[in-house]
Amino acid sequence: MNKTIFSLLGLFLLTCGAFFLEAQTREVITLKKGWKFNKGQHPNATKIDFNDAKWETVTVPHDWAIYGPFDKEVDKQTVAITQNGENIATEKTGRTGALPYIGEAWYRNTFSLENFDGSKKVLLLFEGAMSEPEIFLNGKKVGEWKYGYSYFYFDVSKYINDTSENTLAVKLTNVGKSSRWYPGAGLYRNVRLIVKDKESFEQWSTFITTPSITENEAKVNIKTKASGTDLKLVTKIFDVNGNEISSQETSTVINDEFEQNIKVNQPRLWSPETPHLYTAVLKLYKGNVLKDEIAQRFGIRTIDYSPKTGFSLNGETRKFKGVCLHHDLGPIGTAVNMSALRRQLKILKDMGCNAIRSAHNMPSFEQLELCDEMGFLFLAESFDEWKKPKVENGYNRFFDEYAEKDVVNLVRATRNHPSIVMWSSGNEVPDQWGSEGVKRAKWLQDIFHREDPTRPVTVGMDQVKAVMESGFGAIMDVPGLNYRVHLYEEAYERFPQGFLLGSETASTVSSRGIYKFPVEIASMKTYPDFQSSSYDLEYCSWSNLPDDDFVLQDDKPWVIGEFVWTGFDYLGEPTPYDEAWPSRSSYFGINDLAGLPKDRYYLYRSRWNTTDETLHMLPHWNWKGREGETTPVFVYTSYDSAELFLNGKSLGIQKKNNDSKQNRYRLMWMDVKYEPGTLKVVALDENGNPAAEKEIKTAGKPYQLVLDSDVKTIKANGEDLAFVTVSVVDKNGIPCPTATNQLNFKVKGNGTYRAACNGDATSLELFHLPTMKLFSGKLVVLVQSTEDAGDIELTVTGKGLKKGKLKLKSVN
Ligand code: GAL
Repeated sequence: MNKTIFSLLGLFLLTCGAFFLEAQTREVITLKKGWKFNKGQHPNATKIDFNDAKWETVTVPHDWAIYGPFDKEVDKQTVAITQNGENIATEKTGRTGALPYIGEAWYRNTFSLENFDGSKKVLLLFEGAMSEPEIFLNGKKVGEWKYGYSYFYFDVSKYINDTSENTLAVKLTNVGKSSRWYPGAGLYRNVRLIVKDKESFEQWSTFITTPSITENEAKVNIKTKASGTDLKLVTKIFDVNGNEISSQETSTVINDEFEQNIKVNQPRLWSPETPHLYTAVLKLYKGNVLKDEIAQRFGIRTIDYSPKTGFSLNGETRKFKGVCLHHDLGPIGTAVNMSALRRQLKILKDMGCNAIRSAHNMPSFEQLELCDEMGFLFLAESFDEWKKPKVENGYNRFFDEYAEKDVVNLVRATRNHPSIVMWSSGNEVPDQWGSEGVKRAKWLQDIFHREDPTRPVTVGMDQVKAVMESGFGAIMDVPGLNYRVHLYEEAYERFPQGFLLGSETASTVSSRGIYKFPVEIASMKTYPDFQSSSYDLEYCSWSNLPDDDFVLQDDKPWVIGEFVWTGFDYLGEPTPYDEAWPSRSSYFGINDLAGLPKDRYYLYRSRWNTTDETLHMLPHWNWKGREGETTPVFVYTSYDSAELFLNGKSLGIQKKNNDSKQNRYRLMWMDVKYEPGTLKVVALDENGNPAAEKEIKTAGKPYQLVLDSDVKTIKANGEDLAFVTVSVVDKNGIPCPTATNQLNFKVKGNGTYRAACNGDATSLELFHLPTMKLFSGKLVVLVQSTEDAGDIELTVTGKGLKKGKLKLKSVN
């Protein structure tokens, strides 16, 4: 049988200690293994040969396109990207990642339901399917959906044949010109069967809010719907240690809904710093018979948006120090993976980031769970397009029929996550123009309010003049501006809300470890190697530098925060090299596609991480051939001043100042003349005394490979990943920052090689093959567990280099 079964309550019990488990009332079966997969163009889908013996066997989550090959012709678009201010159509090659996501494909799986009988109800739930899914069960069409990012489910009870074998088939269709980035392809999120009694809780009907909170007590309001008659709801609330702290029962149903208000004494509030979570276990009884039970996690916290205090959480004003993230996970594509998501969040946490925007679509459930647990505020977005197209075959095709259903599912499925503090109904939608768009904005916002009266709604607006005129901006709960820093002041004056959000900021571009000379601020700057400079002074015609946003965040109390474009590089949208093959992934990331920090990471960290010291120096110091040439040195630091030394000689003290926006946030020595050796920075405290120091040295020839894993132990579940950073050092252990050696990877024991990535946006090497070149001296190898616990060994070799070995453990 190809499934993973758990009861929701069982899962909860596992995580929080000992409980007494009553009879199991519902099963959640995750269809992970044994999927048969077939991609191809089937002109007449009904005639497809259903003999799947020769189909590939895959596990789900699965992204069929990430295995490549990269191909210039895939989704090649001759267009003018009007959002980017272009008027003339030109050939864009890597816009959607140049990976083969277009076409039709089928997935099939079989499952048995041991305890199924007429008293049961079976739901089939998709947490995302890219895209236009059509679902068949036992040869009959169950239903279809359109948007690849939506969660949706069908009641499939009447299609279940018998208890032994049921055949599920899913057809997916991706058309070209349907996206502005790599959308991925296939069943990239989980597929689940929920088997429960006919008299049971309705899917996604439970809504837990905390409408009143004091230091001593909190009111927890629980609403839920159930099908059936003469039912009783018994709710128990557990704290994070599994202690029962409150309970209540009720038989009153009004308009099909139960409602309870339960008191929690001395509530421990949820916040990014203290992500306390509670669990409500809801049990549904008929007489003494337990009919259904669900465990729902929630947090106790207040949010408020007001002209006086901006955004406040639990009564304290704070700014969003946020990043936008697309959903792909670099080398593993869009196939959702807990360890990859967790690693991203760990990296962002260390940077001091406190918020995520799911650009420009519904986040995965996994990402929301992690944000609840690890403490991130979440801006959950829905659409990149409404009715007016940005790309020919985008969501505009479905807007009229699906927009409401998609929003309803987004909100109902995720509204119990304490991390979500705002919804977004759209990003830079062309409907910002014209009165119809104003109505659409209002219509969508009203749907969000109807489904969730506790959170405000924003739209990322880039047509700032237009939305000031039309009233579009005035109706938003939270006016979100994408870029347009020069219009913040005017928008604040004109809009009635009394505050503004930088819903999308910066879009500065850089390539990790690459530096260009002369060092100067430039827009849409390109170079023959299709890389961008890591001096962090290059941006796009519509965007700006990080420092421009910092000034607004620091000087304008009415700016409630920012979401930087983007936290990590993503596949597709290789601006400023949209027209330059082989560029196929973005340059916007604070971290590269492999998750390795670029210099910009430390610029944000120096501001955002207020508890740890930041002292980072750039560029690297291997500039053979540039001896005597001007090679500026920048320092990103939490200190206000520092002294720089080259080979022991002082190059003077720099202090942050108001001479320019850059001078305010960076320490810059613009006239350094390169000579090989040691560059040292000494940070100074308020009294001018040395407080910390850092050195970088000119490296010799690459000599030895060094491996460093983000974790030592992974779970033996066939999905968990270790991310191993591979770098090369010289004989003295000094990192070689320009090395490009070709490396090979081997994994032995109870693990497998999953993928590698070097962060080079122009690389056409395939992620899943066990060989790759270093880029700027580094790359990352992903090692995956099997289902057997034990030892794993990764060996990395390269011609003429001392090999690197790393041992990991996988445990049950
Ligand atoms: C914004 C857009 C993003 C991305 C970004 C690149 O205008 O919302 O999706 O395209 O520009 O700078």
